[in-house]
This record gives sequence, C-alpha cells and structure tokens, in this order.
Amino acid sequence: MSAAEETSRLEEHFDRTIAREQRIEPRDWMPDGYRRTLVRQISQHAHSEIIGMQPEGEWITRAPSLRRKAILLAKVQDEAGHGLYLYSAAETLGADRDELTAMLIDGRQKYSSIFNYPTLSFADVGVIGWLVDGAAICNQVPLCRSSYGPYARAMIRICKEESFHQRQGYELLMTMMRGTPEQRTMVQDAVDRWWWPSLMMFGPPDHDSPNSARSMAWKVKRHSNDELRQRFVDMTVPQAEALGVRLPDPDLRWNDERGHHDFGELDWAEFKRVISGDGPCNAQRIAVRRAAHDDGAWVREAAVAHAAKQADRARGAVA
Ligand SMILES: [Fe+2]
Ligand SMILES: [Fe+2]
Repeated sequence: MSAAEETSRLEEHFDRTIAREQRIEPRDWMPDGYRRTLVRQISQHAHSEIIGMQPEGEWITRAPSLRRKAILLAKVQDEAGHGLYLYSAAETLGADRDELTAMLIDGRQKYSSIFNYPTLSFADVGVIGWLVDGAAICNQVPLCRSSYGPYARAMIRICKEESFHQRQGYELLMTMMRGTPEQRTMVQDAVDRWWWPSLMMFGPPDHDSPNSARSMAWKVKRHSNDELRQRFVDMTVPQAEALGVRLPDPDLRWNDERGHHDFGELDWAEFKRVISGDGPCNAQRIAVRRAAHDDGAWVREAAVAHAAKQADRARGAVA
C-alpha cells in the first residue's frame, strides 16, 4: 500500500468513527486540522478556567460571612480543577503544558472575553455564578458529546460542577434580593453590567464565525453560537423574573411566532476590542497570571528534582 493509500484508508476510518457517533481516542489517527482545532479549543477553554479564578478570587478576603467565604473558596478551587483537567486533555493531543502557559502569558492564545470585566461588588459574585456559569453550561453541556474522548469525559465532570456554581450564584442573589433596598440595587447594578458580556461568551455571530462549520462537521462542536445564545436567553428570562431583576435590553420580548425571545443587537465592536486585549482588565489578568507563574517556578523545579531523585532511588533498588 502506498503512503497516499494508507492515509486515505485512515481518513475513511476516522470519518466513519465520527459518523457513527463513536469517540476518537488519543492513540487513534486523526487529521492534523482536527488535532490543531482541538488543541486550540481545549487550551483556550483551560486558560479561561484559570483566568476565571481571578475576578471572583478577589472577593475571597472580603466575603461578607464565613459561610460565603467557604462557598467562594470552593468555587474558585473548582475552576482551578477544571483548568487542570483541560490542560491534561490537551496533553493527550501532544500539546506541551508549559508551552500553552507561555502562549497565554504572552498573548498568543486567548481566553474568554468575560473575565476581562471587573468585579465591583459582592453581588458580582452572585451574578457571575448565575449568568457566567449559566452561559458556560449552555456552551459546555453539548461538549459532553464531543467526538474527542478525553475532552468529552472531562466535560461531564466539569458540567456537574458548573451547574452547582450556577445554583450557588442564584441562591446568593435570592438572598440579597430578600435583603435591604441597597442590596437589591447592588444586584440590579451587577446584572446591568454583566448581561451583555455574558451574551458575548457565545462568541461572534454565526455569519462571522470562521471555524464553526469545520468544528460542527467534526462533531467537536454541536450547535452554532447563535443557537446557544438563544437557548441561554430563553432559559434566563424566567429566572430573572423569579429573581425580580430587570435585564437591560429594551428589545427583549417573547416572540410567539418564533417560540423564542427576541433580543437587541450586541455591541460587536466592544467584543472585538475586549477579545483582542483592550478590555477593562486584560492587562491586570495577564500580569497576575504571569506573577503566579513566576512565583511558582520553584515548586515546579522542586517537583522535577523530587521525581528525578525517586527515579534514581528506584533504579538503585533494582540494581
Ligand atoms: Fe469552570
Ligand atoms: Fe464555574
């Protein structure tokens, strides 16, 4: 068999596996484009989890009670865990974790635009749980059926934790809405600031999303950005009503004909600005991540030295 015949045989097998809704595993042959797309998507997702620890992490020392502090600590720690599973999933594709971190820190790889907005009050912690984790769930539940096995399996556990995050955010907001007028004002202010950036989490509109079609064909992605955004709006409107907050969109209304809510146009110029590095907190987020990476260098060095010593000892014991 010639090399070209061999490749086309492998390609056929890959296409059949995808068509049958079976999973591609790390040792399976896969097209280079599929591998590259997955490394890009999984590493951006991992970076988002890790950078996503910062906006809420800033409130750990200022939580209003021990109970809220314990909840917030656990939530931020979950996000670290999500980042670690996802870096591991990227490693199964041959990516190098140090290199991925370097690409995050020097701006060659992106993370979700949402984490470049500031958290101005404790109500932001609740709104992030409700809206940001809520949007993450809409995006991520379909990824549990992603064609790449390690990614799909990581997403199952991540989604369980995200849905817990969403509930804790909603419960926090419910508590504040039952509180003083000042607390209700804080919640409304946080909703006003986070609503549009949350809708931007689904990415550019379908007609402006160059990688989507390929990812859908490979079943890495299952629904388009606009479909998922609509699903999120439809899910969130009744929750906002139950909470007693107003969503800051004068065009938001139920459309009987479509069976969905209509909503206003997003500020795509803002989205492009924030994703390309010019949001309110981009520089700060990267500076904090860089400092954490530098401060942690001795831990990584010590871990490598320890592993080498253990390996040496094991060899000594055999000899
Ligand atoms: Fe997460
Ligand atoms: Fe989360």
